[in-house]
Amino acid sequence: MTRTSQWATVVLAAGQGKRMQSSLPKVLHPVCGKEMARHVLDAARDAAGRRIVLVVGQGAEAVRERLGVGFQYVAQTRQLGTGHALMQAEQALAGQAAHVLVLYGDTPLIQAGTLKRLMAQHEDSGAVMTLLTSNLTPTAGLGRIERDGVGRVTRIVEEAEADEAQRAIREINGGMYGFRADWLWPALHRLTPSRSGELYLTDLVALAVRDGLPVSSVASSEELEIFGVNNRVQLAQAERAMRERILTRWMLAGVTLVDPQSTYIDAEVSIGQDTTILPNTILQGRTAIGLRCQIGPNSIVQDSSIGDDCKVVASVLEEAELASHVDVGPFSHLRPGAVIEQEVHIGNFAEVKASRLGRGTKMGHFSYMGDATVGKNVNIAAGTITCNFDGVNKNPTEIGDDAFIGCDTMLVAPVKVGDRSVTGAGAVVTKDVPSDSLAVGMPARVRRRVVKGKQEGGV
Ligand code: UD1
Ligand code: CA
Repeated sequence: MTRTSQWATVVLAAGQGKRMQSSLPKVLHPVCGKEMARHVLDAARDAAGRRIVLVVGQGAEAVRERLGVGFQYVAQTRQLGTGHALMQAEQALAGQAAHVLVLYGDTPLIQAGTLKRLMAQHEDSGAVMTLLTSNLTPTAGLGRIERDGVGRVTRIVEEAEADEAQRAIREINGGMYGFRADWLWPALHRLTPSRSGELYLTDLVALAVRDGLPVSSVASSEELEIFGVNNRVQLAQAERAMRERILTRWMLAGVTLVDPQSTYIDAEVSIGQDTTILPNTILQGRTAIGLRCQIGPNSIVQDSSIGDDCKVVASVLEEAELASHVDVGPFSHLRPGAVIEQEVHIGNFAEVKASRLGRGTKMGHFSYMGDATVGKNVNIAAGTITCNFDGVNKNPTEIGDDAFIGCDTMLVAPVKVGDRSVTGAGAVVTKDVPSDSLAVGMPARVRRRVVKGKQEGGV
């Protein structure tokens, strides 16, 4: 059993990632909605605990801003290679941990279980350095592992410096290492520049072998686990692999995916048992979905929370909150700040923004609620619009419990319609309507009091 208290982690993320052809630092490119570096950091934290140093350089400000606190940041001001990058963490960690786990920020598919295996092998073998290697990963661009006649690792050869025979080696360097700290920090200072002028971390292998010290290795068990992303073709490959892993996880956890091929679920989404996701559905960001829901077909749900027993058909939800037993769609759009209470029905062509719809309210056909607070059991008939924007300000609308908003009502905000009041079809409501009233016309005038259940006249 490894003891995480003995370990610290260094994640190298200072390169721009030129081959990405991007103004965004490579490690911030998302894979299934989560920055590549965050995938690595989460796996590292699960395997080796919270002592993590992140080496940043190109785009350091953006990286810090996006990844936030929770790590110690150190700067590599010039990108002089992976060996040089690791050196920058020496001051932060010397004397702090017996072992150092070193990872690159561009290998998003790595899993904590594999890192734990690497750490255990490192401790058990007594090696000064333990590498994760693979025979399963496509070799292009990667360092090749050279072994001697009895199978001991002797050297890592970078592809750029490999001859034909070395390039033919199938075993590659995954770029994840365990080091004994007391050997690592002084050894880094003995690295000499490679042909490219960079200090290669990988040259530590030959250094250890020359010192007569043991180097050990662990094989990765999954084809793409150590897959590194250097360009956007590889980014798409990583995305596909991560996506498949996520889909499999949810199916095994009791979620029905009718068509996994057309289902996209971000890494941080959560889904309750017996929920069914129908084809062409994209669940993004920090979306949380409850039990027994039916989402899709053709829906996009982004950073939203959905309670139990909800149904969302062919609709788009962004930063919306649905309680349980809510149904939405087809063809509706819930925008940021839409808060939908239990048993609300939202039909087709409805848009809700920064508004609360109270329990049991119905909004069946082509309506817009913006900056509105709507009570319980309100009927919002076809074509109702909150005219919330006067060209300068967004103004609020309030609709009381049990109100009945007639077809094509324009609610010119700021305005209030009281509990149990009724507006006539086509009413343009520019003044507050008291409770228990009927308002009709353009601009709407209050006609008479209404008593619930005994409304007189047609509306
Ligand atoms: C590296 C390995 C290679 C291995 C592969 C696995 C070296 C020399 N080569 O190659 O053997 O097979 O990873 O994916 O280590 N970085 C810095 N500062 C620098 C240079 C790089 O922080 O000066 C960071 C980058 O941001 C990146 C990581 O180190 O996250 C790896 O660098 P990269 O240039 O992608 O190395 P590879 O060519 O992929
Ligand atoms: Ca890489």
